[in-house]
Amino acid sequence: MTALNTSARIAVIGAGAMGAGIAQVAAQAGHPVLLLDNRPGAAAQAIEGIDRQLGKRVENGKLSAESRSATITRLQAVEAIEALADCELIIEAIVENLEVKRALFRQLEGICGEHCILASNTSSLSITSIAAQLEHPERLLGLHFFNPAPVMALMEIVSGLASNPVLAECLYDTAKAWGKKPVHTRSTPGFIVNRVARPFYAESLRMLQEGAADCPTLDALMREAGGFAMGAFELTDLIGHDVNYAVTCSVFDAYYQDTRFLPSLIQKELVDGGRLGRKSGQGFYSYAQGSERPQAAEISSDAKVEVCAVEGDLGIAQGLLARLHEQGVEIVQRDGQGLLRVGDAVLALSDGRMACQRAREDGLRNLILLDLAFDYANAKRIAISHAAGIDPLALEQGVALLQRAGLKVSLLSDSPALAVLRTVAMLANEAADALLQGVASAADIDLAMRAGVNYPQGPLAWADAIGLSHILQTLENLQASYGEERYRPSLLLRRRVAEGRNFHD
Ligand code: NAI
Repeated sequence: MTALNTSARIAVIGAGAMGAGIAQVAAQAGHPVLLLDNRPGAAAQAIEGIDRQLGKRVENGKLSAESRSATITRLQAVEAIEALADCELIIEAIVENLEVKRALFRQLEGICGEHCILASNTSSLSITSIAAQLEHPERLLGLHFFNPAPVMALMEIVSGLASNPVLAECLYDTAKAWGKKPVHTRSTPGFIVNRVARPFYAESLRMLQEGAADCPTLDALMREAGGFAMGAFELTDLIGHDVNYAVTCSVFDAYYQDTRFLPSLIQKELVDGGRLGRKSGQGFYSYAQGSERPQAAEISSDAKVEVCAVEGDLGIAQGLLARLHEQGVEIVQRDGQGLLRVGDAVLALSDGRMACQRAREDGLRNLILLDLAFDYANAKRIAISHAAGIDPLALEQGVALLQRAGLKVSLLSDSPALAVLRTVAMLANEAADALLQGVASAADIDLAMRAGVNYPQGPLAWADAIGLSHILQTLENLQASYGEERYRPSLLLRRRVAEGRNFHD
């Protein structure tokens, strides 16, 4: 089965934030679209809102006046559900309530033709469960758009236990024809994105709770070292803590309280206090008029360094050497275990152990641990940590070397796996478990995280680039440090390491 023809009439039920956006997408793609809401006048108002927005795009020269009027002509507000009788696809975007959605689809089965595909935009309910009481559960699928639907490219095509794979292909092809980036996923809690993204928030929240660094520093590290568009605190302030916390709680409960998804008390306190983020004027940051974003913490050094020694291969951090070389730092190459020596300091990429532990176990005096960067050749900032009792001069020398490479340096407390490495290892671990459990393919998981939440790289491809054995070692060390199941490595990660294969092989 191929994509729905643009002559196919589509209905969207629910004219709120998502429904209006979905109706706009389908109409812009060329379909006649009916919009229905149980609040009288809401559908017509939503179409007026779409018209206003398209009008702004015309004013900015981003859309032609003809496209605007063609899209608006294709949209029609209807007040009675019986008007949807000859639709070929009905997308539901009403209140997130299982019983209300079930009742709506039961009613629709009595109205629409036998070939009409039924779709739900639910982000947290089971498609299997919504479809369970239908006469034809095989024709119900999830069509999960991201907010705002006209802007976000990702669409998760969600199949429940009974969903017909042919219809899943049809929706996939239709989404492509609409210019979207569809992925297939099974109906499991959080689907792909809302599940795999949890550690992005959870690890920053935990580091904050443990005093590893403050919010602006952790946010800056995620952006300037991790390559993410935003850090977890600025992003959750934007999403709204009520919404983000509710998604975390729903995924946590759905996985029978697996501690990997444990909600954060810090975020709960914000919700309890009405500090919901931008929309309430205060979250982790203040959005009151005139308030300024606090600066990320940074340490600097006046030490002069002209030479360093590299022992072995720095692996993914090798890009640092080209930067040092460009700045005229002499680099002496020796055999060894991936260490960088400058003066009395020794620098190494974190393997998940705390600096105090690794310094003792590996007999390394004045050890400075480096965090992961998405791209060491272009990162602007890097996190470091060290054990108590480091020689202050050695610390100065280590920081000076990183400054010579053009990096801002943020010092974290001695935390396992620092900030970016810990977050990326946990994202990759969650993605690996989703892959192991057949939730989606490796390609679709990575695409979902890039297109749905703008990650600079899919977590599985990122783990491949870092080296799966390094990710496994990091997680094992995190698990040993905390003694918690939360950091247990996925079976698939262990298997791939043992097989000497990558996720994308
Ligand atoms: P919303 O509250 O903005 O809009 C829901 C609309 O549905 C309202 O206009 C309401 O009057 C209407 N409605 C409620 N019950 C109805 C019924 N029985 N029949 C007809 N209309 C009814 O909600 P929003 O944010 O647009 O979410 C809608 C759905 O999309 C939910 O299932 C939500 O989980 C899902 N979703 C939301 C995302 C978001 O970021 N807001 C992202 C992805 C999915």
